[in-house]
Amino acid sequence: MEMLKVLVVDDEPGIRSGIDRILSKFTVGYPFMDEDIGYTVYEASTGEDAIRIFHENPPDIALLDNKLPGMGGVEVLEYIKRNQLNIEVMMITSFASLELAVKATNIGAYDFVPKPFTPQELRSSMENITKHLFLKRMTQKMNKEGKQIRFQFLSVLSHELKNPLNSIEGYLRMMQERQAGDQIESYDEMIDRAIARIKGMRVLIMDLLDLTKIESGKKNREMQLTDLVKIARISSETMGPMAIQMEVDIRIESQEEFFVMADAEEMEIILNNLISNAVKYNKIGGMVICRLKEINKKLIIEVEDTGIGIPEDDIPTLFREFVRIRQKETKHIMGSGLGLSIVKRLIALYDGSIEVESHPGEGSIFRVVLPVII
Ligand SMILES: Nc1ncnc2c1ncn2[C@@H]1O[C@H](COP(=O)(O)OP(=O)(O)OP(=O)(O)O)[C@@H](O)[C@H]1O
Ligand SMILES: [Mg+2]
Repeated sequence: MEMLKVLVVDDEPGIRSGIDRILSKFTVGYPFMDEDIGYTVYEASTGEDAIRIFHENPPDIALLDNKLPGMGGVEVLEYIKRNQLNIEVMMITSFASLELAVKATNIGAYDFVPKPFTPQELRSSMENITKHLFLKRMTQKMNKEGKQIRFQFLSVLSHELKNPLNSIEGYLRMMQERQAGDQIESYDEMIDRAIARIKGMRVLIMDLLDLTKIESGKKNREMQLTDLVKIARISSETMGPMAIQMEVDIRIESQEEFFVMADAEEMEIILNNLISNAVKYNKIGGMVICRLKEINKKLIIEVEDTGIGIPEDDIPTLFREFVRIRQKETKHIMGSGLGLSIVKRLIALYDGSIEVESHPGEGSIFRVVLPVII
């Protein structure tokens, strides 16, 4: 078990030993953590003592009482920030004034617990600060390893899933309380909205899973003769419901069969993403053409649309993770900004390349060139 060091800075011995008792039996775990996190608690009775300990045996978290005999808790917090010590701070305060809370938060305290607190209040605050610390360290580590993507996986997942989950819970509660009466029809719209949220979450989770699998090399690749026309058809069918809604016509231009040596699943992810974008960012009554060609022994996949197009300045950023281009037409379109970054990673596996031609207001062409065996 990983242990975090917690320094309790309080002049009341009863509070110090109380916190020690509560935290020494407490652990925090999340599904995405390899192991639980526990706490090693040690104590200081004054701010001056605490500062000495910061240098001799620095804690991960400091629980700072605001009202200390000499130097006050806020001053200790200021000292931590001024010296850029890597210590997360939670204020404990007997006068839970808003003013003090605002001040401490502005200086950089992560949270505060008002005295007197119950064991449960302390535990839940510790849980929050621990999660925050964990994600922060994960970022630092991942940045160092150049694997920011995995951190984003965690943070995006935890952030992005919170809102839809809350809203689904909200709809369910309204139904539970029969807020719109006893007729099930009265709830149709809520049910539709809840289902739409669930779909959104599923897409996000699937996208993120694809990305981490590709990233960590865990995805098994199976190179075999694959008929791309068949895959293009599957992808167009997947986008069928949305294409019907948008009255967008999807066409495939290719010879009857187009066999290449590739991983079928990877090809499907590439085509799914390009075709889904071409439909999503299209106009009502527009068109999508998926062309499969061979030029100089290289496979060319072109997905052309008659959609809203992409401003030239935004094209270089398109393939980065979580990039979504802000345009008034895309405001209401759901997406996580991951599709094209996944496409780019897959193409790199084949030593291929992708380029974009776009005319804002008229449409775009995404062109993939893959040196696969044809
Ligand atoms: N064919 C297109 N026409 C116009 N804009 C596009 C097109 N394809 C992509 N874009 C723009 O590029 C951004 C990134 O696309 P990407 O596929 O990576 O993410 P997304 O579609 O927003 O979300 P998702 O992860 O669900 O695919 C989109 O948000 C959109 O603004
Ligand atoms: Mg997309």
